[in-house]
Amino acid sequence: MTGSIILIGPMGSGKSTIGRLLAARLRLPYVDTDALIVSHTGVDIPTIFEIEGESGFRERERKIIADLSAQSEPIVLATGGGAVLDPANRRHLRHIGWVIYLDVSVDEQLKRIRHDRNRPLLQNTDLDIRLHTLAEQRNALYQETAHWRVPGDGLRSDQVLRRILRRLQQRTGPIPTRG
Ligand code: S3P
Repeated sequence: MTGSIILIGPMGSGKSTIGRLLAARLRLPYVDTDALIVSHTGVDIPTIFEIEGESGFRERERKIIADLSAQSEPIVLATGGGAVLDPANRRHLRHIGWVIYLDVSVDEQLKRIRHDRNRPLLQNTDLDIRLHTLAEQRNALYQETAHWRVPGDGLRSDQVLRRILRRLQQRTGPIPTRG
């Protein structure tokens, strides 16, 4: 196992924000599966869903995670909220490194992403019902895939970051300070 850290969790749980902070703090490259898909295709996520459907997007996501699992350089990886749906992805993510579940409630998600336009699964739908349905389908998978769960309700990203760093320190010894 490498020293990589993988962030999983629902939309709006802070994976990208915390991933960037964590990468800077650990001085590791930051990788984001959604951003890789966007840069590979040259179009945004809503456009991929529009043209290829959710299944096309999932196929791209699966390929990227499989490729990352074949690399050995340590990274901080932020994943899309649906990455855990695929059993091979779940296996690969645990193979890549320490998997951390950023756990937020639907109420917290609603506060953070109520007006989002970049998440196709949340458009033209009752947001509250949609997020509850996704949580029912996915929360057990986040739990099953993760090595640790970090609750995020009511916390700012810097507070979540501190908790993760403390936990990492307990597991792996001192975190290198920024030079
Ligand atoms: C998705 C979450 C999104 C993105 C896509 C699908 C999902 O990523 O991958 O819109 O299925 O939950 P974030 O979790 O970063 O919003």
